[in-house]
Amino acid sequence: MQQTVPDKNDTITIVGCGGFIGSHLLDRLLEATHYRVIGIDLVSGKISRHLNNDRFSFVKLDMHDIPSVKPYIERSGIVILLAALCNPSLYTTRTLDVIDVNCTGTIPLINMCAEAGARLVYFSTSEVYGRTAASLAGRGDDAESCLLREDCSPFILGPVEAQRWSYACAKQLIERVVFACGQEHGLNYTIVRPFNFIGPRMDFLPGIDGEGIPRVLACFLSALIARKPLRLVDGGRNRRCFTWIGDAIDACMKILERPEAARNQIFNIGNPSNETTIAELADRMIRLWRRQVPGASAHGIAVEEISARDFYGPGYEDSDRRLPDIGKAERLLGWEPKTGLETALDTTIKACIDLYCPALRKE
Ligand SMILES: NC(=O)c1ccc[n+]([C@@H]2O[C@H](COP(=O)([O-])OP(=O)(O)OC[C@H]3O[C@@H](n4cnc5c(N)ncnc54)[C@H](O)[C@@H]3O)[C@@H](O)[C@H]2O)c1
Repeated sequence: MQQTVPDKNDTITIVGCGGFIGSHLLDRLLEATHYRVIGIDLVSGKISRHLNNDRFSFVKLDMHDIPSVKPYIERSGIVILLAALCNPSLYTTRTLDVIDVNCTGTIPLINMCAEAGARLVYFSTSEVYGRTAASLAGRGDDAESCLLREDCSPFILGPVEAQRWSYACAKQLIERVVFACGQEHGLNYTIVRPFNFIGPRMDFLPGIDGEGIPRVLACFLSALIARKPLRLVDGGRNRRCFTWIGDAIDACMKILERPEAARNQIFNIGNPSNETTIAELADRMIRLWRRQVPGASAHGIAVEEISARDFYGPGYEDSDRRLPDIGKAERLLGWEPKTGLETALDTTIKACIDLYCPALRKE
């Protein structure tokens, strides 16, 4: 029987499909749309339940292998770029790899999209804003001054020896390459700047299914399971807007559904109503953990402060506040986040217990 070749416009390639965001995006694309999806990644553990789906093809490939990646891009109407090294601990310890994967290794993929006429959805980061001008001017508590706007807020990074900024700098440069490809080669693109997405399947737990230091939520979950203190880097004073992954995927779907509104735009995707300090996040997680793990109340759950230098090593700096203005996403995409921090954390903790330690519920 002759096989029909899928229409290019019905095919999406996701590079970095096996990670946290990729796994949730794949769930939604396969469950709620007609698209055929090609997923490129080095790993597939988080998407294993889709490996036998007729509308999904997993291709185990390193994105640096350009000749092998190219045919998949050429047969796709849309390419979503998620592949990255995006754990802060890597920015100071594997700086060259971070710059390679997030920048130099990504540029050929962008050129390929331009050449193939594929629409590109590129996942950048809220870290491109770096330190906010308001904070540097001593107005860090004034929310209106702190709002980060896609098309006018400056990017402010630290000195070269503060290698923490290598990730933000790499992503900034890619945004500029994407923008220039739009201007010079007619690339149709949308840039997403995520603000701390959270949910099940985020990162890894050190010593269980990965090694190293994951992002803060997984660090806290790992400490809660191991009954170790939750460590607050530099006192946990920095503020972040944690965004439920389901809301974030809603935004991605709007971007796909509204190609003209999203064309050559940059969007902050985050939940300003969920802003919290990291110290408050730790308190909240401990309270929710105790609710879900009855025996945990009997154990003292400690919180301790640690300097960024002791936690991450030299070269670490951070921004104290990342507060998105999401007016553009509301206006052009008709998107707004709906999920509060309490629900987002509770669901994430539940999924973590189900996956790693269901027996704790019975203690
Ligand atoms: N999750 C967030 O809150 C957040 C915040 C800011 C930016 N982002 C950006 O969104 C994107 C996705 O983030 P995530 O949280 O899903 O990260 P993730 O680490 O869970 O997923 C990234 C995926 O890229 C894959 N990858 C890395 N190098 C590769 C290579 N050489 N070839 C093929 N695949 C490779 C990894 O195996 C991984 O599955 C990244 O670009 C990240 O910078 C995410």
